[in-house]
Amino acid sequence: MKISKKIIFILTLLLIMMTACVQQNNTYPVEIFSEMHYNQAQKSQEPPRVPAHPDSVTFSEIGSEKELDMSSNPANNYDGSYLYEVNCTFCHGANGNGIGPAASKISSEENYWYKVTGEKHKNPANLLTSELSKDNAVVFIKGGAGLMPAYENMLTEAEIRAIVDYVWDDLR
Ligand code: HEC
Repeated sequence: MKISKKIIFILTLLLIMMTACVQQNNTYPVEIFSEMHYNQAQKSQEPPRVPAHPDSVTFSEIGSEKELDMSSNPANNYDGSYLYEVNCTFCHGANGNGIGPAASKISSEENYWYKVTGEKHKNPANLLTSELSKDNAVVFIKGGAGLMPAYENMLTEAEIRAIVDYVWDDLR
């Protein structure tokens, strides 16, 4: 009799502990894999999202006539400061000094690249002291270097120029 009371007590305790663990809103009652859920802690490291095209379709059948007309893409009208914020701040920093939220991770010795190759990535450049002319900066951004992606196929020439104008004229 004594033992079964103990077992009931322990089971009740376990039950209370388990329910306490799953009292989060909007989550599954049982956590199987931690990656089941988007980790909200990472949200602060994300750049703002470019809103979807107003005519975008979630799915079109193969062979469907539906095609996305990008000519009216609102992204074509974004100004340099917004494009800079979305594409560049996490490395180069909001004020262009090269110390964005990702910068310390890039050159860190904790970095996988460093552990495998023994070489550190270059830090994102300080754009405030860059000696490149605006034209050369555009060429550089198109081609990328090292860890910096080549933006040639991601942004139009006009968008890259708008970013460079913003950094060279407004931030510096
Ligand atoms: C993933 C991080 C990362 C992102 C994102 C990134 N850069 Fe870079 N950028 C770097 C690194 C690292 C360097 C230094 C590369 C080198 O010298 O080899 C660099 C160098 C540069 C340079 C050259 C400066 C000089 O004087 O040599 C310019 C200009 C530049 N970035 C502009 C931009 C712009 C504009 C964007 C956004 C469209 C951008 N970068 C996005 C990491 C990044």
